[in-house]
Amino acid sequence: MECHLMLALPILQLLLNHINPCTAAAASSSKVNTEYIKTSCSVTLYPKLCYTSLSIYAGKIKTSPKVLAHTALNVTLRATKATSAVINRCSKVHGLKPIEVAATLDCVEEISDALDELRKSIGELGHAVKGSRSFLFQISDIQTWVSAALTDEDTCLDGFDEPKLNGRVETIVRREITKIAHLTSNALALINNYASN
Ligand SMILES: *[C@@H]1O[C@H](CO)[C@@H](O)[C@H](O)[C@H]1NC(C)=O
Repeated sequence: MECHLMLALPILQLLLNHINPCTAAAASSSKVNTEYIKTSCSVTLYPKLCYTSLSIYAGKIKTSPKVLAHTALNVTLRATKATSAVINRCSKVHGLKPIEVAATLDCVEEISDALDELRKSIGELGHAVKGSRSFLFQISDIQTWVSAALTDEDTCLDGFDEPKLNGRVETIVRREITKIAHLTSNALALINNYASN
């Protein structure tokens, strides 16, 4: 038994020596990654939403401004798709007033345009290589499209900016659109950040 213990101890020591530094290194690199997201999100208008929506991808983003911007667009696209589905359902709710139906259908249209613009932006960002000759044109296109998506979302919200429109559907549509507008605004700030530094 004593003999076993003597053999086991050095092995244990070896394991401890090797495991501890590794886990410590992994933990500190993941801290670097989440800190990077926190710092980058501080340039956005909605830093809290930015951090909560992106920090789960910290391991993939690491400290890359491009992957950060790309992930922000992906997250925005996914949320916008979900919102689009919700608003589609809202437009079919029975008993809506004609003015509500009109505003909701306008939104369905605007959000569909926003989806196209976000998809185009994601495609273009995938091809953009910083330092290449076409980079500035590509970034400028992406900025234009993401800004257009933001405008579409604002236009949808404007359609609900009527004291008469204060029912349940309006509350849902406003909440949903406001969230994706904030995500879109953040994505645009992160794209600008990627383009400039
Ligand atoms: C963005 O989404 C696409 C499609 O789902 C995926 O293939 C890609 O890896 C994602 N990119 C990032 C940076 O998250």
